[in-house]
Amino acid sequence: MKNTKLLILLSFVLCFSGISAQESPSKEYQDNYKKVMDRTAWWRNDRFGMFIHFGAYAVAARGEWVKSNEEITTERYQKYIDEFNPVDFDARKWAKIAKAAGMKYAVLTAKHHDGYCMFDSKLTDYKLSTRFGGRDLVREFLEAFRAEGIKVGLYYSIIDWHHPDYPNVGNHPQRNDKEYGKRKFNWDNYLKYMHGQVEELVRDYGKIDIMWFDYSFDEYSGEKWKANELVQMVRKYQPDIILDNRLKHNDGLSSKQRTVSSLGDFETPEQGIPDVPLTDKFGNAIPWETCLTLNGVWGYNESDKNWKSPELIVHTLVNCVSKNGNLLLNVGPDARGNIPQESVSILKEVGSWMAKNGESIYGCGSSALAKPDWGRYTSKGNTLYAHWLYPNIGDINTRGVDGDKVKAVYMLCTGAELPYQKSWWGNTEPGNLFISVGRNPQKPYKYDTVLKVQFK
Ligand code: GLC
Repeated sequence: MKNTKLLILLSFVLCFSGISAQESPSKEYQDNYKKVMDRTAWWRNDRFGMFIHFGAYAVAARGEWVKSNEEITTERYQKYIDEFNPVDFDARKWAKIAKAAGMKYAVLTAKHHDGYCMFDSKLTDYKLSTRFGGRDLVREFLEAFRAEGIKVGLYYSIIDWHHPDYPNVGNHPQRNDKEYGKRKFNWDNYLKYMHGQVEELVRDYGKIDIMWFDYSFDEYSGEKWKANELVQMVRKYQPDIILDNRLKHNDGLSSKQRTVSSLGDFETPEQGIPDVPLTDKFGNAIPWETCLTLNGVWGYNESDKNWKSPELIVHTLVNCVSKNGNLLLNVGPDARGNIPQESVSILKEVGSWMAKNGESIYGCGSSALAKPDWGRYTSKGNTLYAHWLYPNIGDINTRGVDGDKVKAVYMLCTGAELPYQKSWWGNTEPGNLFISVGRNPQKPYKYDTVLKVQFK
């Protein structure tokens, strides 16, 4: 009797605190969560990667969606395929650019929505290798990046705007073409092709670290793609591979609904950064990666010169890491195979910052401290990194740090020790650490001056 009353009381308490008694994770969920965290450990450590959108759409030079945006037929699109001849393509050059930027992994479009394959698929002739001296661009990419010690990933579009059995649904270029819609589409046939191509990629190209599927929409989601079977097959060949979450449509889930899936290891916020670290509905951290363009488009665009500054990129990377996230930063090489000069310059600048400050990014994650006025925090073990991003008057106060526990403070990029005090003028209460950085309101080193606070 007493127990029953207690139980009722407990359910009331749980109910009103917003936690329902059923909401504790099942054993199966916990096992999967652990696997996800184990698999993604290296990736969550590495934090910074290169996305590469490269395909025949670079000739049209109006972004990788040109076929859809302008409702171009496959026949009319052919002129871009015929013209595409990336004579300057040298994967080793790309790999060096990524490495110098401090990027630790890279993901290349093996096939984008237009269906044109950058790898030597045996299942189609709609591929670069039928020309281009038979070269397999994907293989060259994999070899060159691995040689630089960079982990490798492949983007594969599960949508296909070229395959005759892929219906004119969603944003298909022929979505408004009534005649096209009358064709017979054999969905099973398309699935066989799509699964077959993924199998080629995970079976015939050595170790692949990441598979980046894109994307699900409406009812074209999850089992419509036979996603479970697909994932099982991928993991059979590549047991440690990390998968993104786009085999299933789950955009817009709130933190109260979000779960870690067995169909994908990380979330993929696109062109934006979550306000807070992403967590599942049980409060566990979820691996995530913001993917971001350097201008406004993924594929090469001749007229988009709206480049983000190196400062904004550094701040963005810090922003992601301060919330336990990764940044996958895109380049869209031109039709000859060159990464645009503007992108190269930005990445070079980011790389020079990373060379001195990478310690505050790699292996780092969020800090329990509230975001300060002057910047952001990242942390790792016994060390707090105070990223001074915005102009500041007076000392840098790392509010919430117990000064008694501090061993020393350093300027990360020079190694110089910095003086600090626990109180300043009216501020005598405990829990403040005022780091003296001189009287200059501007940070002394671009693009982010990192103060390293070491604890005892
Ligand atoms: C979107 C776009 C695609 C791009 C991708 C990158 O899904 O369809 O063009 O490759 O985002 O995240």
